[in-house]
Amino acid sequence: MKIIRDPCQLQKILQRERARGKAVGFVPTMGALHEGHLSLVRASDRANDVTVVSIFVNPTQFGPKEDFKKYPRTLGTDLKKLRKTKTDYLFLPSVAAMYPEGCITHVEVDPKLSGTLCGKFRPGHFRGVATVVVKLLNIVGPCRLYLGSKDYQQAAILNRVVEDLRIDCRVHVMPTVREADGLAMSSRNRYLSSSERRRALGISRVLTALKRDILKKRGAIARLKVLALKELKKNVDRVQYLEVVDPVTLHPLRKYQKKMTALAACFVGKTRLIDNVIIRSQ
Ligand code: PAJ
Repeated sequence: MKIIRDPCQLQKILQRERARGKAVGFVPTMGALHEGHLSLVRASDRANDVTVVSIFVNPTQFGPKEDFKKYPRTLGTDLKKLRKTKTDYLFLPSVAAMYPEGCITHVEVDPKLSGTLCGKFRPGHFRGVATVVVKLLNIVGPCRLYLGSKDYQQAAILNRVVEDLRIDCRVHVMPTVREADGLAMSSRNRYLSSSERRRALGISRVLTALKRDILKKRGAIARLKVLALKELKKNVDRVQYLEVVDPVTLHPLRKYQKKMTALAACFVGKTRLIDNVIIRSQ
């Protein structure tokens, strides 16, 4: 695994790889790697000749009161984990390399998609995500981009961005990797105390129960949502949203349809956690 910090150097190396006919797969991350991230790396390795992983804690996607400064930075263990995979290049840019002096261009996604769900509570977050991912795609030039379904709205937005800006790359959204007890893996889980972690389990449990109730058509979506919300509030400290939406437009649903996604965001102690389940009826 080659570690590269300079965007121009990586761009040149990958131009050469592509010229040799190599398929390049790309996994963008903010580090503090866990099995969720590694599942994306493995998916890229299966389908591509060259796998590029980036670790960059992107300042522009954090709000002023969010955890940018204390976001876990665990490069030593990240390197150990990546060395056990078939990552070819690890891109480790500095903030100055990604946002050079005088940089004033951003990727703004319509609030229809970026202003709902997490976007409502994290203004500017998806603008930061879309901007950094487009920059990374311009540097790496992959034919396949690997994202996790865990960050469902992020994947929906990036799918749109890639399509709208005609970026020549296929987006692969991979399933959420969970702990044995159901908790969605997240770099932020390490903030949880053991009692908080127990309560955090309520999120996946409530979403799974909601999915089951929806599949069994146990009532109107609005009513099932109220029941799920009530249950969720018994476990977590603050719920930002619990919604059932269309998987592509992210519009809240009042009526049943074949494909739906149920998502939730909440705080357990000071830690903000998100999770979702994909609902497909036969
Ligand atoms: P980060 O939170 O590090 O996540 C990197 C990628 O791993 C994202 O595509 C995310 O959806 C995926 N991921 C996280 N937890 C997962 C899990 N439990 N199962 C499967 N995939 C999982 O998301 C970001 O970084 C950033 O916003 C980024 C896209 C890198 C832009 O800065």
